[in-house]
Amino acid sequence: VQQNRQLAEDIKRLKKEKDVYIIAHYYQRPEVQDIADFVGDSYAMAVAAKDSPCANILVAGVDFMAESAAILCPDKTVLSPEPRATCPMANSIEVDDVLQFKQEHPDGLVVSYVNTPAGIKAVTDICVTSSNAVKIINKLPRKARIFFIPDTNLGTFVAGQLDRELDLFPSHCPTHAHITKADILQRKAEHPEAEVLVHPECDPEVVALADYVGSTAGIIDYAVKSDKNTFIIGTECGVFHKIQQLSPDKELVLAQDDLVCPNMKSINLKKILSTLETMETKITVPEATREKAALALEKMIEYAS
Ligand code: 13P
Ligand code: SF4
Repeated sequence: VQQNRQLAEDIKRLKKEKDVYIIAHYYQRPEVQDIADFVGDSYAMAVAAKDSPCANILVAGVDFMAESAAILCPDKTVLSPEPRATCPMANSIEVDDVLQFKQEHPDGLVVSYVNTPAGIKAVTDICVTSSNAVKIINKLPRKARIFFIPDTNLGTFVAGQLDRELDLFPSHCPTHAHITKADILQRKAEHPEAEVLVHPECDPEVVALADYVGSTAGIIDYAVKSDKNTFIIGTECGVFHKIQQLSPDKELVLAQDDLVCPNMKSINLKKILSTLETMETKITVPEATREKAALALEKMIEYAS
């Protein structure tokens, strides 16, 4: 604790001196969330990067989040404290998978979860996050064939909400997809009074048992505002921190014992301090790719608001 306090003080001093805005995801370690200028879900992080008041942005999140900031903010320096922190689901799709769909369906639309690399965003019509996918896809022409990539579970959830068919890609988040129906039923038996709040990256059988399904920000907001006191949480354990800060009396139960995204947790205060000292590693996206990817991200922001 003493060491973290010193690191946090050094970080706060250096980010001011070097004009760095720190944006963190809710899955970051509590002490990382606490030194951030902004903490949010992946949609809010992208908007915060665009609106950042500083010349430099440090993204405490996985690589596609830092890339999104670099795509949306070409005039700013975007830093990652751990460029190896990646999202295995984001990396599961290849540009060729998308090009094949486009070839087979020239009038089809490619809708990408932001959990994708820049090269995929560059061949995408519009990006979405879990906070806005239903709203955005609802605005797309009803007769258009849509290739929703890469998360099968989020795609299944959106298709169900809109009662429309989507072409899906076989991929999932390793952290969320291993929560089972049996886990939820067991937790419900232990806490019959609890509400079940899950991320749409969970398996459809888990989603079917939930009282609320939404992004990390949506889950936090729901728990804080609900008049219930106990919640079974079906997402990465990092969301506990914000709920506990805002509603310290609420009881939070993780849907399963091991809900950790190891990539998110590979970032720590030491790495953030060293990034501020060296102003490395800079995240860049080749300009031709960036320009195309920016269209898909800007369109998401336009359609989501
Ligand atoms: P959110 O957009 O809900 O924060 O989700 C990001 C993510 O990676 C979920 O696993
Ligand atoms: Fe990717 Fe899953 Fe980690 Fe989110 S929790 S960053 S989807 S691996």
